[in-house]
Amino acid sequence: MTAKKKILAIIGSTRANSSNLKLVAKIEALSKEIFDFTIFDEISSLPHFNPDLDNDHPPESVVSFREKIAGADGILICTPEYVFSLPGSLKNAIEWCVSTTVFSQKPVGLITASASGDKASEELQLIMQTLETRFNEDTTLLIKGIKGKINDQLEIADPDTLSNVLTFITAFQDLLKQ
Ligand SMILES: Cc1cc2nc3c(=O)[nH]c(=O)nc-3n(C[C@H](O)[C@H](O)[C@H](O)COP(=O)(O)O)c2cc1C
Repeated sequence: MTAKKKILAIIGSTRANSSNLKLVAKIEALSKEIFDFTIFDEISSLPHFNPDLDNDHPPESVVSFREKIAGADGILICTPEYVFSLPGSLKNAIEWCVSTTVFSQKPVGLITASASGDKASEELQLIMQTLETRFNEDTTLLIKGIKGKINDQLEIADPDTLSNVLTFITAFQDLLKQ
């Protein structure tokens, strides 16, 4: 039996009752035979990015965040859209990694789960392309109307959404093999 791939899931929402967090919990449950998930839902604990602090001794929380990324086989980012863009907290977390190579050639799955989310999805792809991560069309998913599509029991009633999530998992698994 091959070892399970280690996935770090970064949640772009800071809400306790986040539907993005629920969606990742669902993906974790659906893929538990193949992936070993660590969920990072603490982006709000990172300080505001400041290039002056991005030196040889960055803040401890930043060091820990970068180490989690570096140590994972693959990264899943699951985020809502805020004001036609990425939530500031997620953008801030990513900015802390720009001066490093932790994302370089890392396989990533990019899910935007929001009311609408088109702009955030586009931006996320541009940003992760700039950071030289590896992803493709099939490991990029946009789920509109997320709040109505997953409940507290992690049930996804809409068959198309569930099908898209399952297809995404298979594509992400394939990407991790490459
Ligand atoms: C400040 C704010 C701005 C938002 N702006 C957008 C937006 O531009 N586009 C969109 O699709 N949803 C927007 N939303 C709605 C979010 O998509 C929705 O609340 C989503 O469920 C949040 O994800 P979460 O449940 O994981 O927290 C906004 C929500 C907030 C709180």
